[in-house]
Amino acid sequence: MVFPQVIRTEAENTTNGERLLEGKNVNLRIMEKEDLPLYSEWINNPDFYGEYDYLDQKSRTEIEKKYDNYPPEKRKFIIQKKDGTRIGGIEGEQHSTYGGYLEIGFTIVPEERGKGYCSEAVKIIVDYLFLSNSLNRIQAVTDTRNLPSQRVLERAGFMKEGLLRKTAFIRGDWRDLFIYSILREEWKEPKILTKTEKK
Ligand SMILES: CC(C)(COP(=O)(O)OP(=O)(O)OC[C@H]1O[C@@H](n2cnc3c(N)ncnc32)[C@H](O)[C@@H]1OP(=O)(O)O)[C@@H](O)C(=O)NCCC(=O)NCCS
Repeated sequence: MVFPQVIRTEAENTTNGERLLEGKNVNLRIMEKEDLPLYSEWINNPDFYGEYDYLDQKSRTEIEKKYDNYPPEKRKFIIQKKDGTRIGGIEGEQHSTYGGYLEIGFTIVPEERGKGYCSEAVKIIVDYLFLSNSLNRIQAVTDTRNLPSQRVLERAGFMKEGLLRKTAFIRGDWRDLFIYSILREEWKEPKILTKTEKK
């Protein structure tokens, strides 16, 4: 996966020297090493992933080691508010058997949920991934009971494709998942980002 230098909206792309994928209420930027202490706090708090996602306890050392070895296609983005407050993460992970698609995952800290932030972040990452890659499809899976996640995906133009029966072991149970996707031909064009390159 190619990560271009910059893609920006009409607005200027840098804030305090950071490179941002800019939306109206949130920006995305690549997770840096300095974000790892906060990220570690987040993922070791069971409320962060919530009742429909895995428990994922990891030491700071494990997190740092994993971060150092991330291939570009597994890089995570921090979701931040316009004032720079970090409120969650979003990522696209490559599934390369047939070459054409990525799976995204996303989480917002509990106190910032229900404000439309993730819906905007998903639209931004979809724009970004289709603009920066030749991939043809972006997919996501979600617990069938995770209504907020399904709403986010539907608002970003994803289509529910089907049911994956008892496919994820989450918090003591085998759970059914819905699989969603958006194809390049359905996306058609960027919704938030533009193709403009920074000079
Ligand atoms: C899923 C998650 C990322 C959504 O983030 P968010 O910023 O709260 O999402 P948004 O505010 O953009 O949208 C949430 C939508 O779900 C709706 N919603 C929230 N709770 C709901 C419920 N119990 N039933 C039905 N819809 C619900 C909201 O009304 C909103 O839809 P609307 O804008 O049409 O009104 C967040 O809930 C989260 O981090 N959950 C824990 C981790 C997780 O489940 N990640 C997804 C794994 S697939």
